[in-house]
Amino acid sequence: MRKMPPWTEKRIEWYQRAVAWNRFDRVLADHICRFINEGETVCDMGCGTGYVAMELARRGYETTAFDMNEVTMAYLRQEVPARGLQDKLSLIEGSWDDLDVEGMWDNVVMVFAGHMDKELEKFIRFCRKRLIVIIRESRKSHVQASGITPQIHTKPADIEKVLRCRRYEMVPVVTEFGQPLESMEEAVEYLKTFGADTESEKSALKNIIRCFDSEYTYFLPNEKKMRMYVIER
Ligand SMILES: C[S@@+](CC[C@H](N)C(=O)[O-])C[C@H]1O[C@@H](n2cnc3c(N)ncnc32)[C@H](O)[C@@H]1O
Repeated sequence: MRKMPPWTEKRIEWYQRAVAWNRFDRVLADHICRFINEGETVCDMGCGTGYVAMELARRGYETTAFDMNEVTMAYLRQEVPARGLQDKLSLIEGSWDDLDVEGMWDNVVMVFAGHMDKELEKFIRFCRKRLIVIIRESRKSHVQASGITPQIHTKPADIEKVLRCRRYEMVPVVTEFGQPLESMEEAVEYLKTFGADTESEKSALKNIIRCFDSEYTYFLPNEKKMRMYVIER
């Protein structure tokens, strides 16, 4: 099992391109917003590129984007004012391990972040009302055959074990989160960045779709199966 590659400017650009193409930010925010009330505050903890935080701020929630990664936080320091979201969205660069607060936000949202089997109680303490956790259903990814297995932060069975004594709701979420690409060369670069070996590359490229979009001519499909847990404080 290999780790996912680090956030770089290129990786952020690919990710945000896929978010925009698939409207992944809107799909996740639609699910999240069913459980949070108007006027409540939200922290997107382990926000990465901040697409969920930016979408929640765009919808009017007082939002905080929190991450320890300096590359994604530098991106957000430019992107948030560029989108005119600075009045609704604050940024905190730091580690949740150093966060000594209790009930700082009404809601804490964590998407593909944190190890819930070990750290759930810590994350619950950060919120006043609820912790909303989105995890991947499985390890399979569109960029891998045998090349790379993304490190899965939390497995469904593990989180459900620690949730036995809590009130929570589980919502299955399935949506497309494929990668639009400019050329076959870029597709190969993308696959190599995610650690695909020759075999994996061949197998992934078998699924590539030719599109006749003006900007992106290829699309690497990726149906993403997730589970959203809404956990009461
Ligand atoms: C797999 S990424 C998910 C990012 C984003 N939520 C998404 O949906 O793409 C996990 C994120 O958690 C952040 N992270 C990991 N450990 C952290 C910590 N101790 N404190 C703050 N952020 C952390 C990483 O920097 C990374 O951006």
